[in-house]
Amino acid sequence: MSTPHPVITIDGPAASGKSSIARLVAQRLGYTYVNTGNMYRAMTWAVLKSDVDPNDADAVRNAAAGIVLESPVVEGKTQVCIAAHTLTDAELNSDPVNRAVSLVARVPEVRERLVAEQRALIAIGPLVMEGRDIGSVVFPHSPHKIYVDASEEVRASRRGAQGHADQIAERDRLDKQRKNSPLVIPDGATVIDNSHITLDQAVEQVIAALRLQ
Ligand code: CDP
Ligand code: CDP
Repeated sequence: MSTPHPVITIDGPAASGKSSIARLVAQRLGYTYVNTGNMYRAMTWAVLKSDVDPNDADAVRNAAAGIVLESPVVEGKTQVCIAAHTLTDAELNSDPVNRAVSLVARVPEVRERLVAEQRALIAIGPLVMEGRDIGSVVFPHSPHKIYVDASEEVRASRRGAQGHADQIAERDRLDKQRKNSPLVIPDGATVIDNSHITLDQAVEQVIAALRLQ
């Protein structure tokens, strides 16, 4: 199924550089940048606020059903709003959210709901959308798929330099092993190893890979 506008899909493990690369590619091409991790983070923030144990899938499902989430576009990228509150970077990347987000993201009803919201964003125009299942599940027919990887040591050290306490190995384990929409290299994706290159070089590799297709 083709989409009315092109979608560049960028997937990869935690702290591989997806957001930084996606933002720069979107700026360069004049596309809208969508960070789907922030949608899962916002749901997690709201679930935790309602005092739900993120390990309890039934409780997460019930709480999530009552959460109103919107993704308005501001200056070329989507924000995430819950009940009209725009979440801040500090809220989205807080320690409790980092610890709980992969537990909330493995609940099938949460995924179905957010995948539908992500697909609907195509009405905005051309997109660069990054996450874990964008090329495999959300837009599997896109001809423009990238998978960004980097060694675990490099990813842990870059995330540490951002000042976040983040159990990236544990999140990767949960994201790769979950039953629904696990993190995989999507069929047809170009893999970029972002361990030992600069961000500018990674962006050049993405642009070059897309032009080849
Ligand atoms: O930025 P980082 O790679 O650390 O994480 P993120 O992209 O903000 O995603 C946070 C979490 O949301 C991931 O660890 C996944 O559990 C979940 N996620 C997902 O399941 N599917 C997506 N398309 C995006 C994120
Ligand atoms: O979105 P994701 O969690 O995959 O990664 P990110 O938050 O975009 O990147 C993690 C950190 O690595 C950021 O501070 C980037 O500036 C930095 N970085 C990078 O992504 N790629 C490089 N080649 C060099 C640094």
